Amino acid sequence: MIVETAKAKLNLALHVRARRADGYHELETLFAFVEHGDIVSVTRAEADSFMLAGPFAGVLAGEGGNLVTRAAAEFAREFGHGAHAITLDKRLPVASGIGGGSADAAATLRALGRLHGISVADMFPIAAALGSDVPACLHGVTAIGRGRGERLEPVPGLPGTPVLLVNPGVAVSTAEVFRRWDGIDRGPLPADPRAGRNDLEPPARAIAPVIDDVLDALAGAPGAGLVRMSGSGATCFALFDGEASRDAAAAALSGRGWWMLSTRLT
Ligand code: C5P
Repeated sequence: MIVETAKAKLNLALHVRARRADGYHELETLFAFVEHGDIVSVTRAEADSFMLAGPFAGVLAGEGGNLVTRAAAEFAREFGHGAHAITLDKRLPVASGIGGGSADAAATLRALGRLHGISVADMFPIAAALGSDVPACLHGVTAIGRGRGERLEPVPGLPGTPVLLVNPGVAVSTAEVFRRWDGIDRGPLPADPRAGRNDLEPPARAIAPVIDDVLDALAGAPGAGLVRMSGSGATCFALFDGEASRDAAAAALSGRGWWMLSTRLT
């Protein structure tokens, strides 16, 4: 059995530059990943099967199709290699701006690739077709993403940095957040992502005002450095100057009923 972690993805900065004719948006983003995420397990089997487990299995089951089975179907179409039993342990909230489905699809491809000796490079075209964030998740390293996010340039990261993820429990539609972007290009990614922005924060906050509360709470935590929303939200994150300050922030916020993940950048 091959087991892959579908590490949660963060956008340390996300600049929306233009609306494209194909309905997507031209981005400049800094992708980073954390140590924790969903878990995808894959084995060879007589017939294809898919099982969901974990705290967010119910939410996903209610949505019908998902990117794990689509990724497996694309892999089979491209490379063959028979049937598989796949299990997804869904630990990250759904529709929350931290990869989720994209990370799951990428982990599924990585697991199938390991099982059958197919390289990440060879799976890249499938990844891009599955979703804008799937190529970044397939590589799983800190990188600047351009285009829809599929043109990747690896850059040095900050491995080991303590980070707290907080999601207020509101699912936000990525397509709707992009639709509400005001169309104003506020400029390129700066060399230091701390000086950057997430241009999707204003439209996401218009849909889910509770995001303001999350950002305020994180910004007020002692030891918090960069505080920002990830992707199209509603998950926000803070980088901390140590694990003690991160854990203290998590303890201070524990009464709010928000989902939280204490982890570290990879
Ligand atoms: O590519 P993915 O399926 O993850 O994107 C979900 C939706 O988010 C797209 O259908 C599109 O409306 C929007 N999107 C966008 N520009 C991007 C990425 C996503 O407009 N660069």
